[in-house]
Amino acid sequence: MALAYPQPSDELVFFVNGRKVTERQADPEELLLYYLRKKHILSLNFAFEFFRLSGTKYGCGVGGCGACTVMISTYDPVAKQIQHHPANSCLLPICSLHGAAVTTVEGVGSIKARIHPIQERLAKCHGSQCGFCTPGMVMSIYALLRNHVRPSMEQIISALDGNLCRCTGYRPIIDSCMSFVGEPTCCQLRGTGQCCLDKEECVCTSSTEGQVSYIGFIYCLCNPEEFPSMDPTQEFIFPPELMRMAQEQQKTTLVFRGKRTTWISPPSLKELLELKAKYPNAPLVVGNTRLKKNHHDTYHPIILHPVRIPEMHVVSSTNNRLVIGAACCLAQLRNILMEAVAKLPQEKTKIYQALLQHLRTLAGEQIRSMASLGGHIVSRGSTWDLNPILSVGKSVLNLASEDGERQILLNDQFLAGCENADLKAKEVVVSVLIPYSLKDDFISAFRQAGSQKNAFSIVNSGMRVLFNPGTDTIVDLSILYGGIGSTTISARKSCKKLIGRQWNDQMLNEACRLVREEIFLPPSAQGGKVEYRRTLLVSFLFRFYLEVLHGLYQMYPFRYAELSQKRMSALGLLQSGVPQGVQIYQMRCDVDPGQSPQDPVGRPIMHQSGIKHATGEAVYIDDIRPVDGELSLAVVTSIKAHAKIISIDALEALQVPGVVDVVTARDIPGENGKDEQAYAEDKVICVGQIICAVVAESLTQAKCGAEKVKIVYEDLEPVLTIEDAIKHNSYITEEKKIEKGDIEKGFKSADEIIEGELHIGGQEHFYLETNSVLVIPRVEDKEMDVYVSTQHVTDVQELVASALNLQSNKIMCHVKRVGGAFGGKITKPSLFAVVAAVAANKTGCPVRFALERNMDMLITGGRHPFFGKYKVGLMNDGRIIAADFQCYINGGCTKDESELVIEYIVLKVDNAYNIPNLRVRGHACKTNLPSNTAFSGFGFPQAGLFMEMCIVAVATQTGLPHEKVREINMYKGVNLTSFKEEFNAENLWKCWEECLDKSDYYNRKAMVEEFNTKNYWKKKGIAIIPMKFSVGFNATYFHQAGALIHIYIDGSVLVTHGGIELGQGIHTKMLQIVSRELKIPLSYIHFCETSTTTVPNGKYTAASVGTEINARAVQDACQILWKRLDPIRRDNPNGRWEDWISEAHKQSISLSATGYFKGYVTDMNWDTQKGHAFPYFLFGVACSEVEIDCLTGAHKNIRTDIIMDACFSINPAIDIGQIEGAFIQGVGLYTLEEIYFSPEGEQLTLGPDTYKIPAICDIPEQFRVYLLPNSRNSIAIYSSKGMGEAGFFLGSSVFFAIRDAVAAARKERGLPLDFTLSSPLTAEQIRMACADVFTEMIPKDKPGTYKPWAINVS
Ligand SMILES: Cc1cc2nc3c(=O)[nH]c(=O)nc-3n(C[C@H](O)[C@H](O)[C@H](O)COP(=O)(O)OP(=O)(O)OC[C@H]3O[C@@H](n4cnc5c(N)ncnc54)[C@H](O)[C@@H]3O)c2cc1C
Ligand code: FES
Ligand code: FES
Repeated sequence: MALAYPQPSDELVFFVNGRKVTERQADPEELLLYYLRKKHILSLNFAFEFFRLSGTKYGCGVGGCGACTVMISTYDPVAKQIQHHPANSCLLPICSLHGAAVTTVEGVGSIKARIHPIQERLAKCHGSQCGFCTPGMVMSIYALLRNHVRPSMEQIISALDGNLCRCTGYRPIIDSCMSFVGEPTCCQLRGTGQCCLDKEECVCTSSTEGQVSYIGFIYCLCNPEEFPSMDPTQEFIFPPELMRMAQEQQKTTLVFRGKRTTWISPPSLKELLELKAKYPNAPLVVGNTRLKKNHHDTYHPIILHPVRIPEMHVVSSTNNRLVIGAACCLAQLRNILMEAVAKLPQEKTKIYQALLQHLRTLAGEQIRSMASLGGHIVSRGSTWDLNPILSVGKSVLNLASEDGERQILLNDQFLAGCENADLKAKEVVVSVLIPYSLKDDFISAFRQAGSQKNAFSIVNSGMRVLFNPGTDTIVDLSILYGGIGSTTISARKSCKKLIGRQWNDQMLNEACRLVREEIFLPPSAQGGKVEYRRTLLVSFLFRFYLEVLHGLYQMYPFRYAELSQKRMSALGLLQSGVPQGVQIYQMRCDVDPGQSPQDPVGRPIMHQSGIKHATGEAVYIDDIRPVDGELSLAVVTSIKAHAKIISIDALEALQVPGVVDVVTARDIPGENGKDEQAYAEDKVICVGQIICAVVAESLTQAKCGAEKVKIVYEDLEPVLTIEDAIKHNSYITEEKKIEKGDIEKGFKSADEIIEGELHIGGQEHFYLETNSVLVIPRVEDKEMDVYVSTQHVTDVQELVASALNLQSNKIMCHVKRVGGAFGGKITKPSLFAVVAAVAANKTGCPVRFALERNMDMLITGGRHPFFGKYKVGLMNDGRIIAADFQCYINGGCTKDESELVIEYIVLKVDNAYNIPNLRVRGHACKTNLPSNTAFSGFGFPQAGLFMEMCIVAVATQTGLPHEKVREINMYKGVNLTSFKEEFNAENLWKCWEECLDKSDYYNRKAMVEEFNTKNYWKKKGIAIIPMKFSVGFNATYFHQAGALIHIYIDGSVLVTHGGIELGQGIHTKMLQIVSRELKIPLSYIHFCETSTTTVPNGKYTAASVGTEINARAVQDACQILWKRLDPIRRDNPNGRWEDWISEAHKQSISLSATGYFKGYVTDMNWDTQKGHAFPYFLFGVACSEVEIDCLTGAHKNIRTDIIMDACFSINPAIDIGQIEGAFIQGVGLYTLEEIYFSPEGEQLTLGPDTYKIPAICDIPEQFRVYLLPNSRNSIAIYSSKGMGEAGFFLGSSVFFAIRDAVAAARKERGLPLDFTLSSPLTAEQIRMACADVFTEMIPKDKPGTYKPWAINVS
């Protein structure tokens, strides 16, 4: 195993939150995140013990989400400087921390000690919902502020590039950061002693020292005057001991020896080279950010850590180049290049500018601060962005080995790993020499990724041309592309042929032809998007051509012509600027002026756990400390989509040290799940289905055991796509149908009939907290506690009880909070709980089962992929008089929620439109994919998009403006839905008109059109989309809710109810309600947890009604208690609450009450096709504007205005947060998020590296939300409405704005306007729809003649 290294293991010394940590047996394979979360850290003298630092969260384990962010501080003994930087602790080996100080969120501030201003402001700005991403956000901002006391907005946005949030939509997080940019001013009334909250509408400004002007009409949801100021003197100082250590150990080799791996950190180049000669296969680990594939891939007996070697940190310049040490990180490289660009003449810095362009978008700040230049160059991933530029810039690598020094060119052959151009095994890269550019040099960098930032390139490129001085004759040309093959590749032959040519259109045509011939991307290429990638090759080339022409004109304006306006429009990148903080909230429907100041209802109260989220003290399932004898569980999942299980061989697994048992379906004493099996029995029906579980003393051992289980399958034919399912008649339920009017008659009287189709891809929930469960068997009576991250405790209880053959009264389920769910934690957590409970039952030990991100994404389904076919009969004036819809969803391998989803699609597909003759038929297809499940909007996001596509088709056919067709067909006045339910569309129209007005729609539409006439290669689009959203369920049963309230003798109140905190602020609202009903301050009231022991039989918290139905139960309990106190209050009307309670107790009045809400009366009769299917409707309208880049397909969200009929908002901060968060999730579904399945049915997108949810760069630059004034809802508590999901569909306004822009491009190019686009409308689709000479020139492959990398399952 490990090669012997003569030196004994050193003590690893670092500091965590100001305290010294000494590890005598440091394991080089241990990563900081897991160390912080799981380890008991002892001080040197064992005098005190750190507790587990669970504030640092696991979100993905691959550096892609930022939940694990910490700050690392180091001391450079030579420069005598302390440096701070953010880092992804999930990638950071602890051995790399010798001499460093680590700050975690607990070290920044805590409720126990002192809440840091960052934490407080984030919470007060409502920047956390589920709170799981919040510690990571805090740490990214903290690290920035430690380096820049007054950062610019650009720096703040850049600092948050690598942090994902699935809940908030980022706007409130940005708001909280803005407060650090300049002195915030609450409102115009500032200084008058009046808070802006007392006003109906006011202006919020905050100057940011000329960076951003933050001006708008805003109803402030927080009061910046309450923000504590930053006091840098309160921060930890860098430990002097570490400074001394750094000085003293400058010349010492450090060796940390683990069980399998030895980590060696040499102090000098000489020693490094000796080591490299001795251990030629040992990697040099600097940032450790190169993605690990699996356990075996990353195993190395010896690891060399070269960060203390001065030569590898060198930064020097001569008169023709910069030399940068290979161990410099990419953030340092950025700073060095920025300095060079500022100092040197522009003509010398063209390479540096090109590098800087990519350094702004490459990964997140954490990765940029960890990843080294040398690591980037040597690991040379095909999509690594800097290598093509370094290569065309003729960079040179300074190599060293024991045998001496030499230089090699960082060229295409090096990047391809050609033996004669590569490093030898004993060599290391010491530094990189990046030359200055020449006067007649032109260098450009290109990249197109799924998202603007923090996403790997789909294709990138570096291009350079050198001309004969003063001419446009090519002397030298280099073009390199990444993302096309397994390495970065060069169009070397093409470039050679073009030398000597003039830079003109003929040369461009020839270049395109040559490159197409030289660079071939096979149709089955990994990563798919083949035609798009081929198109990007030539599109980038064209842009380079124009950039150079433009550059020539700028250099020699008398010799070269200026670019035409048309061509100019191809230049320039589409990058979102800093989200401009114009936020407009109006809440005229807000608090009654007569309302008591103590009554919190209607006020923007901070999330009850907001501060705890920000300090990392909020406890999620995997943060619960291990209990005595606890085992970890890892599952073995099916690698086949459909197969018989012939055998399961666990012998080898059982021999792995630490493995306690292997659990299969045979170990289940009772029922194996309900609709879906928890453990597969004799057949598997999808890839990712759980077959067995390995329980072991540690997770590593359990995973190791799971890898050793051998399963033999016998293949069966799988059904994977909707098309397959239709062919095989494979359905989960019978057809769901609604018919209204006389459809045949309608079609007969129509002026025109049009037909079309729409495909909508699925969506991952991507809750930041993965599914987690901790099962603790009790000693007595077979009782069991189940701590689980679920939206449905009752289901967990029922399934676990039935699996263990117990009554439900033995199973106690507990949920404190869930780190995001969005529908994905309704059914699936019960299965995970059964898996763990069966293991706990078999072994008699507590069992923890926290899924890793890739497993969570593999096993659980998501939103249903959708396929719809429409036939629409229309009149020439734009009226739709008949429509026939066939809707299909891909349900996956079991029923789960698919029946309800298809029912909702059928019931809701009309959206805001009154189609007199309508037939909708819905089918839920059964396939061999992981079972799809509930997701925000429950089918409506698919149905609504489908309906709007029909509207667009009608507008295209009639030539009428889209908004006119919408208006013509929108429900008006009192109406009947397709299932004959009466409703009033008045508020729909109010929202519509208010949105037209607030968004200044018609003026902006005219401006968009004007822009489009002037810009051939960039187009803008604008769309306004109405929404009728039905809240709740189509059966009364789902709406019932219970609550239990205790008043203790001291007057304090404990509230519990059946609803679960998913981030939607349910408990915060509940406390507001109790406060109003019992007329006591919020500080008297506490919520502890949702549990089956306190409130039984709770329904799932979903469908936007979780809060209001539980609120009714809570209100009921409060009113019972209030009534019981009547006589006491009468006797002592001026008494205090505490007096009344004390007296009540003396009089033996029960101070505990349950409350119940029987549920909204809803029903749907599918036989008569009539019903009161949903409790009420909610209306909203959104207007979005975008800009697209026709050459690359990139887009940017310019502005969105949302009007929402929220009625009386119990907590406007929470409701607006819900609207914004859901909207951004919708933007994700419709424009970004792509799930890929292999032709064998295996999901290929299993983490944030391959599956992109919206990041901070994806939100609209201007994002405005208005709550419709003067609106009331008599059905829900306090006249409120459920806001959880409604905003989601409005994300489609971005889809239609993009479509509008694409249509403008197509119109100009003379292409048909009745084109089809599917969802998500990604860069690929946008580019390919803006067809032009470049899309025409690339080769097309006939479907069926090759095996694609991925299939379309919708
Ligand atoms: C979440 C995430 C997002 C990313 N996004 C992007 C992106 O958008 N664009 C992009 O271009 N890249 C991206 N990357 C890749 C990133 O640029 C590289 O992983 C990184 O630059 C590697 O540097 P490192 O110091 O971490 O290398 P390490 O992981 O430490 O080492 C990588 C390899 O390089 C070798 N090596 C390191 N230094 C030397 C040396 N001096 N001499 C010889 N061999 C050496 C090592 O032996 C090892 O084999 C991303 C990575 C992650 C994790
Ligand atoms: S857990 Fe480390 S970045 Fe996601
Ligand atoms: S609050 Fe950001 S992920 Fe939930």
